Amino acid sequence: MAEFDYRGGMLHAEDVSLADIAAAVGTPFYCYSSAALTRRFAAFTDAFGGQDAMVCYSVKANSNLAVIRTLAGLGSGADVVSEGELRRALAAGIPPEKIVFSGVGKTRDELAYAIAQGIYRINVESEPELDAIGYLAGGRTVEIGIRVNPDVDAKTHEKISTGRAENKFGIDIGRAREIFAKARAIPGIRPVSVAVHIGSQLTDLAPMRTAFTNVADLVRELRADDNTIDSIDLGGGLGIRYDGENPPSAEAYANMVLEATGNLGCRLIFEPGRSLVGNSGILVTRVIYEKFGLSHRFVIVDAAMNDLIRPALYEAYHRIVPVAQPEPGVESSPADIVGPICETGDTFARGRDLPPLAQDGLLAFMSAGAYGAVMSSTYNTRLLIPEVLVNGDSFAIVRRRPSYDELLKLDSLADWQQSV
Ligand code: LLP
Repeated sequence: MAEFDYRGGMLHAEDVSLADIAAAVGTPFYCYSSAALTRRFAAFTDAFGGQDAMVCYSVKANSNLAVIRTLAGLGSGADVVSEGELRRALAAGIPPEKIVFSGVGKTRDELAYAIAQGIYRINVESEPELDAIGYLAGGRTVEIGIRVNPDVDAKTHEKISTGRAENKFGIDIGRAREIFAKARAIPGIRPVSVAVHIGSQLTDLAPMRTAFTNVADLVRELRADDNTIDSIDLGGGLGIRYDGENPPSAEAYANMVLEATGNLGCRLIFEPGRSLVGNSGILVTRVIYEKFGLSHRFVIVDAAMNDLIRPALYEAYHRIVPVAQPEPGVESSPADIVGPICETGDTFARGRDLPPLAQDGLLAFMSAGAYGAVMSSTYNTRLLIPEVLVNGDSFAIVRRRPSYDELLKLDSLADWQQSV
C-alpha cells in the first residue's frame, strides 16, 4: 500500500500526514487516496487492454460522490443496486450509457426510474422482474441481461457467497434458455446479455473459471437458439490482501477470463468494487483509554462497530497500525482493540501486538476503503464519520460530520405527544 506509508515517522496518505488531517477534521474519519484509486483502476483496465471491456465500478463498495467522480474521470462506468446508488452515479458524472443495474429486489419505482434514465443494462434476476420491466417499458425497448446462478461454490465467507443454488441470486442456469425465450416474447424487452457474480473477496480463480466457462457455453447455446448476445457481465469479486492473502493479480484474472470465455466476440462487462477501493482507503481512530483487565490489555478507540462493521459481521481482519511509527526497540504487547459500543461484538481485533500507546494516540485500520463507510450506521446515536479524499499534497473533506441536531431532527414526536 504505497499510498499509505510512513514518512519521517508518521503515517501519510500520499503527501499528507494523517495526524494533520486528524487535527483538522477530528477522529474517527475515513481517508481515501486518489493515487491509489487511479493506480488500481489503471491496473484493471490495462489487464484487458485491446479487449472490448467495460469496467462498471460497483458503487456499493464505496459510494462517496468524490470516489465515484475520481473513477468516472478515469472512464469508469457504474454497477448500481438501488435508485439511491443510481442517483449517486449520475450525480458523480457517470453517463447513463455506462451504468448497469443489478439486484434481486428492484422495486417497480426503481425500475421505472432506471428505464427513464436510459441506463445501459438492467440485469434481471427473476421472471416477475421480467414482467415488471415489460409492463414499465411503455413503448421503449429495454435491453437487459439475465443474471444466472451457476451453482458454483466461490470458496469465500458464506455471507458474501452468491453463486450457489441455495443463494437468492440469479436464475438457475439450467433454465436460462427458457427464460431468454420468455424474455424475447415480451414486447419492450431485448435480452442481449448474460450476467454472473458468484461472490466477493475471491482469492482463488478456479471457481470463477468454472462459472465463466459455464456462461460461455450458455452463450453458444443461446446463440444457437437465435438469440443476439452482445455482452457478458462477469460481475466483481476479485479479492484483495488484508493480511496474508495472496489474491490473483489483475493480469492473472484477465488471462483466466480470456481463456474461459474464448472468442465469443462479446463485450466483457466487469463490476469490480473491493479490488478498486479496498486498499485505497483507511480508517483513522484515536485511543480514548487503555486498560488492563485481569488477563487482557484493552485499547479502547473512538471508532466502533457502527463505523466499520466488517470485523463484527464477517470476522474480517484489518491490519491496525499506529500512525506515529514506534521508536526502534520499543516492546510491543498483545492488545484487544475495541470500540465504545455496549456489545462485546464491538471488537476490531484480538491479541494484536501493539507498542505502548499514548492516550489520544492515533491508530489506522488498513484496507478499509471497501464496505467501510457505506455499511456504517448511527447505532448508539453515534454520528456518521467524515470521509476525506487526498490527492498529492491536498486533502478535502468529501463527507462532513453531521451535527447532533441534524441527527435528532430526523425523528419527530407523534402529534399526541406534543404537549408533554
Ligand atoms: N456485482 C455484484 C452483482 C455484487 O453483488 C457485488 C458485491 C459486486 C459486483 C462487487 O463485488 P466486489 O468486487 O466488491 O467483490 N459487505 C461485504 C461484501 C459484499 C459484496 C456484495 N456484492 C464485505 O464487507 O466483505
